[in-house]
Amino acid sequence: MSEKREQWGSKFGMLMAAAGSAIGLGNIWRFPYITGKYGGAVFVLTYLIVVCLIGLSLMMAEQAIGRAGKSDAVGSLLKLGGKKWSIVGWMGFIVAFIILSYYAVIAGWTLAYFCASVDVFGSLLQGAAQGKAADLFGSFVANQYYCIAFLLTVMFVTATIVYRGIAKGVEASCKILMPTLFVILLMLVVRAVTLPGASKGISFYLKPDFAKLTAEGILAAIGQAFYSLSLAMGIMIVYGSYFTEDTSIPRSACTISLLDTSVAFLAGLVIFPSALAFGIEPNAGVALTFITLPSVFAQMPAGMLFSAGFFMLLFIAALTSCISLFEVAVAFGIDHLGFERKKSTVVMAILITLLGIPSALSVGGHFPKICGMDCLDFFDYVTNNLIMPIGGILLTIFAGWVWTEGAKAELTNHGKYDFKLYKVWLFICRIVAPIAIFVILAADIYGKFFKK
Ligand code: PHE
Repeated sequence: MSEKREQWGSKFGMLMAAAGSAIGLGNIWRFPYITGKYGGAVFVLTYLIVVCLIGLSLMMAEQAIGRAGKSDAVGSLLKLGGKKWSIVGWMGFIVAFIILSYYAVIAGWTLAYFCASVDVFGSLLQGAAQGKAADLFGSFVANQYYCIAFLLTVMFVTATIVYRGIAKGVEASCKILMPTLFVILLMLVVRAVTLPGASKGISFYLKPDFAKLTAEGILAAIGQAFYSLSLAMGIMIVYGSYFTEDTSIPRSACTISLLDTSVAFLAGLVIFPSALAFGIEPNAGVALTFITLPSVFAQMPAGMLFSAGFFMLLFIAALTSCISLFEVAVAFGIDHLGFERKKSTVVMAILITLLGIPSALSVGGHFPKICGMDCLDFFDYVTNNLIMPIGGILLTIFAGWVWTEGAKAELTNHGKYDFKLYKVWLFICRIVAPIAIFVILAADIYGKFFKK
């Protein structure tokens, strides 16, 4: 394959498309719910440290691998490191496959909430104004037909877009949608922090209680950082492969991480002050965002408009992430199972939808628990706390120890740019990241399975 690889239309478009993959449910749904689960501010702090130390370095490594390899994760790693490293690309396929199966379920919830905001299924906001947001969520997820119908819709839309080719559509829409999402989020922050009773939530979110720091919490922060930045499964390798030769990888990685982290941070600043103001427990789990936000919208002038607009944007943000996840699976089918694009799209869509059905049923209690968790939680846990950290270890080792010279050339654009922190980056990839992730992973596994 010697033809010129497709490249992004503009730097801004490229950044927005990468941000479109990174920014999604991970920021607005998962970050607050995990933060609530692991003790609030102390988790936020851990998360920020993990993003700066490990997330950013890994993102640079992945983009460098992609631009040098000019292929997807398996292909790039095969070219640069040989057969055994391409296994990491395979792991990416498995993770993307499992994540998308439940991610599409939650994307379906956002679509349902959009419909409910405009009163298609009875009034979301009226119910929320009467303090019934939690009941509404409960009765929605208990209705297995709705949940499955929305899952099918999301998978259908995702598959249709990927089938038609994504380059123009994704880049063009992300350029408008991402900034709009940001602006709506800012308005919500203003409303949330000025609610009566918001201060309890603000201090839960911003005042760390170090007694709540655990190995599981740190591991969850690493998993969340990878998840939110779309790392450790080859997506940034693919996006990097479309980078032009004069893109500065350190700079673009910083921009993407900063955008992604700000959206997550702002989402927390909406959710926690409002949750505590309305008496919702911050550790309410997967339902947190869906219970809290309608309560806030109900308190706003033109709440319905905000609610509909917000859930629509969230749906679109989720969709751009679904697309990038689905593209991993489809590309895998094409490159490694010998399918054509059409066949790969259809086969993967069917398989992923089938795998998504238990998750769609589980939150409403229509599916048996696995290891004490709902199926959706279980998939989320296994991918984020187990497989992604291992992928992260392998990728940082590859960039730091095996493909060192190549990485240096990419990060400095063959000596054209000066990457001042190169030594720091190398030290993180060689020592800090692999050891830290390994120790924490081992501590967590030990704590979970061996210490009774
Ligand atoms: N980063 C996305 C989010 O935060 C989720 C995602 C993970 C998308 C991995 C693509 C790949 O929602």
